[in-house]
Amino acid sequence: MIHLKSASEIAKIRESGRIVARTMRLVSEAIIPDKTRTIELDLLAERLIREEGGTPSFKGYRGYPATACISVNEEVIHGIPGERVLRSGDIVDLDFGVYKDGFHADAAWTFPVGTISKEAQRLLNVSREALNQGIAKACPGAKVGLVSSTIQKYVEVQGYSVVRELVGHGIGRELHEEPSVPNFGRPKDGPVLKAGTTICIEPMENHGGYEVLTLADGWTIVTKDGTLSAHFEHTVAVTHDGPELLTVE
Ligand code: MF3
Ligand code: CO
Repeated sequence: MIHLKSASEIAKIRESGRIVARTMRLVSEAIIPDKTRTIELDLLAERLIREEGGTPSFKGYRGYPATACISVNEEVIHGIPGERVLRSGDIVDLDFGVYKDGFHADAAWTFPVGTISKEAQRLLNVSREALNQGIAKACPGAKVGLVSSTIQKYVEVQGYSVVRELVGHGIGRELHEEPSVPNFGRPKDGPVLKAGTTICIEPMENHGGYEVLTLADGWTIVTKDGTLSAHFEHTVAVTHDGPELLTVE
């Protein structure tokens, strides 16, 4: 069942989303190429979230051990922060959620570390644009599949693939609610979006094939062919005026 949110409930998600966006900005600015370890970014994210009165949505979720998922290069999502140093030329996906006053918000962004290759930069540009194009379709009366198919088409025309095994999701009192929001499919697939639906749209784009593997840590998802992967996510409310981004400052 899809929980439709009232204006006051959406306001609470917006407040959690503001904290997500602020934390994302400050954590990304803290990256020093060839120096910063991913665990330092995780600890900073947790401190920033708590200083705004929030709690990290992911920590403890199904046993996840950290505040952020930090996924580097061929890691698609769910990378566990640790001693790895971010190197100039890497791309790094920072993904975290905030819970405050009963409601979650969740976002992810893939950042360049230092100077990256033209190919890596192009993957980031296409992936960011795919998210934007998907968000633009999140209007009342559209089916979820319109968002999904728009993302898939844009990404594939650019020569990349979208991951199929992991999808976006509804969000609210729970981190993961209905509906699921795939990044592939047909325009008429899935439930109809109504005003008050709140979803996380989070395409994952691979430079090579769409297949992924889970590493032995039980969390980290990597591309099967070892090619680069990018991930961008926003929490979005479907409103009568169109899509509203909730993970912004
Ligand atoms: N953005 C991802 C999602 O919404 C991250 C969840 S990680 C977990 O599914 F640790 F919370 F599982
Ligand atoms: Co999410």
